[in-house]
Amino acid sequence: MGCQSNQPSKNATGPAFAIAEGAQDIDPRAVATDLIAKHGPTGMDPRVTALIPGFDAPFYQAGLAGYSDAAMRIIARRHGCPMCVTEALLDRTLLAGGKGFAKADLGDITGNVPGGEEDNPLIGQIMGSDPPEMAASALKMIEQGSRSNKEYRSMVSKGVDESRSDGSDSFAGIDINLACPVKKIAKKSRGGHWLREPEGAIAILKAVRDVLPGSIPLSVKMRMAYDDTPEMKKNFEYLFDAAYDLGCSWVTVHGRTVEQKYVGPSRWDPLKELVDRHPGRLIFGSGDVWDVNQIFRMIGYTGLTGVSVARGCIGNPWIFKQARAILAGEDPKAPTITEQRAVLEQHFELLLAVNAKTRDPEYLTARNMRKFGIRFAAHHPNADEVKQGFIYAKSLDDWRVVLERWYG
Ligand SMILES: Cc1cc2nc3c(=O)[nH]c(=O)nc-3n(C[C@H](O)[C@H](O)[C@H](O)COP(=O)(O)O)c2cc1C
Repeated sequence: MGCQSNQPSKNATGPAFAIAEGAQDIDPRAVATDLIAKHGPTGMDPRVTALIPGFDAPFYQAGLAGYSDAAMRIIARRHGCPMCVTEALLDRTLLAGGKGFAKADLGDITGNVPGGEEDNPLIGQIMGSDPPEMAASALKMIEQGSRSNKEYRSMVSKGVDESRSDGSDSFAGIDINLACPVKKIAKKSRGGHWLREPEGAIAILKAVRDVLPGSIPLSVKMRMAYDDTPEMKKNFEYLFDAAYDLGCSWVTVHGRTVEQKYVGPSRWDPLKELVDRHPGRLIFGSGDVWDVNQIFRMIGYTGLTGVSVARGCIGNPWIFKQARAILAGEDPKAPTITEQRAVLEQHFELLLAVNAKTRDPEYLTARNMRKFGIRFAAHHPNADEVKQGFIYAKSLDDWRVVLERWYG
C-alpha cells in the first residue's frame, strides 16, 4: 500500500519552499533559543515527553510508505531522531496477519520487536474504513499480535473482551491516518477521504481510543482539508476539535489539501491560524521540511509544537543531527564522505536484516537501496555521477563498486 510515489509526477512536485511569507528570513537559531527558553534544553513541550518518554525534541520522522521501514528508522535514530512513525498499515491487511503485520517488524534484527531496542519509541500508524476493524487492528498492534489472527478477526463482529493488555512494550502509541490521498476502495473512505465524511472518521477515532489502554496515546494525521471549499474547511475544524474531545493527544496537520496530493508547495498560514485559534493544544505540522532550517522556520512561523520530517529525511538522516546541533547552540555540519559511506553501509546491513526472510535478500536489498542511494547521492560533490551509479546498481556487487569508486 503506498500513500504516494516520491518521484516528481502528476501527483507530486519536487522540493519547493512552503507558501509562508517571510518564513525564509526566520533565523533557525533564534527559534531554537525561544523553544529552549519556553520548554527547557530539549526544546520539546514536556507534555509530549510525559506521554512518550524519549520523544525529547520538537521533530520526528514521518510515516513514508515504501521508505520508513525499520532500517530507515534505525538510521534516523542513530542520528538523533527522537521518535518515528511506521508507514500507514491497512486495518484489513493487519487483521489478515502475515506480511501486513510483519511490515512494521524489524525482520531478523536480533531480539527486536517494533519499538524494541534501537527502534524506540515508535508509533504504529493504521488506516482503514471500518471502526471495529480499526479498533481490532490497533489492539493487535499494541499487543504485538499475541493472540491468534482468528481471535483478532472475531473482535470485529463480537467486540473486544476485557482481557486486553493494559500497556505495550512495543508501540509507544497509535496514529490514525486521515491524510492519505490514495483513492477510495470499493466506495469506502479511508485516509484523507474521511475529511469529506467527518462523522465516519469520528466513529473510528472513538472506537480506537476506547480499545486502547489509557497509557497508550492516540494521535491523528490529517490534511488541512479535503479541498479549499468553505464546507471542507468546516469539516476539518469539526473533526480536529472532535479528535481532542475524544482524547487524542495531538494531531499532525499536513499543509496541503487531499485534492492537492503532493502537487505544489504546502501552506503554512492555515497551520499558523490553527495554532492561533488553539494555543493550548499540542499540534504538529508537516509539509515542505526539506532541510534543517525548515524544521525551525516552520515552528517559528506557525507556533506549532513540532514538525514531522518526511521527504526531507530520505537519504538525509543528518537532518536530525543538524537539528540537535542547532538546539545545542552548535553549527550544523554537512556529512563528510566517510560519514556518508558509513551510513550507506549501515543502511544496507539493516535492510538486509529486514529482508532476511525473503527469497533473495541480497537482490531485494540492492534493489530497495537504489531509491535511497539516489537520494544519498545528493550530498556527494559528484552528485549526478554517483546518482547514475546507484540507478544502475542491481546487485550487491554493483553496490560495492559504487561505494569503492565514489566513497573510497
Ligand atoms: C512516498 C510517500 C509516502 C508517504 N506515506 C505516508 C504514510 O504512510 N503515512 C503518513 O502519515 N504520511 C505519509 N506520507 C506523507 C508525509 O508523511 C508528509 O506528510 C508529506 O510528504 C508532506 O511532507 P513533505 O512535503 O515535507 O514531504 C507519505 C509521503 C510520501 C511522499
